[in-house]
Amino acid sequence: MPSSEASPDLLSGQIAGLHQRAVTVAHSAYAPYSQFRVGAALLLSDGNIVTGCNVENASYRLTVCAEQAAIAAAVALHGPGIRIRAIAIANLNAAASPPCGACRQTIHEFSTPDTLILFPAGDDSVTQATAAELLPAAFLIRS
Ligand code: THU
Repeated sequence: MPSSEASPDLLSGQIAGLHQRAVTVAHSAYAPYSQFRVGAALLLSDGNIVTGCNVENASYRLTVCAEQAAIAAAVALHGPGIRIRAIAIANLNAAASPPCGACRQTIHEFSTPDTLILFPAGDDSVTQATAAELLPAAFLIRS
């Protein structure tokens, strides 16, 4: 296993902290239209953690999802070579919030098939799935 990859044990130890970071950043969400406040925390393959929240807009369609905000921040902070080891998603609405289809495609861009995605199931439990499970037929361009 490359040294930059988290081992399964190390990863499971980091998941609780990652979830808490997603909850914390959800408090920063700008969601005056939906009142649905979402946070996302990325664990990168080098161990860095980057967070993001949803940012809505009066035009509605310009809204940025928490997952996409986190990924844009991660690229800005750590460069175009980032790989996502795990992503925790939280909301402050006690609702289920799997990543939307657009976010799944954005996550795919910086993930491996076994990247872990953890999201609220809506009943206080967390659903865990891999990037490949959530988007089995991602769009891609082979160069
Ligand atoms: N939202 C996210 O932040 N992530 C998703 O994957 C789905 C939806 C946000 C967008 C909008 O601000 C609010 O949740 C309601 O759709």
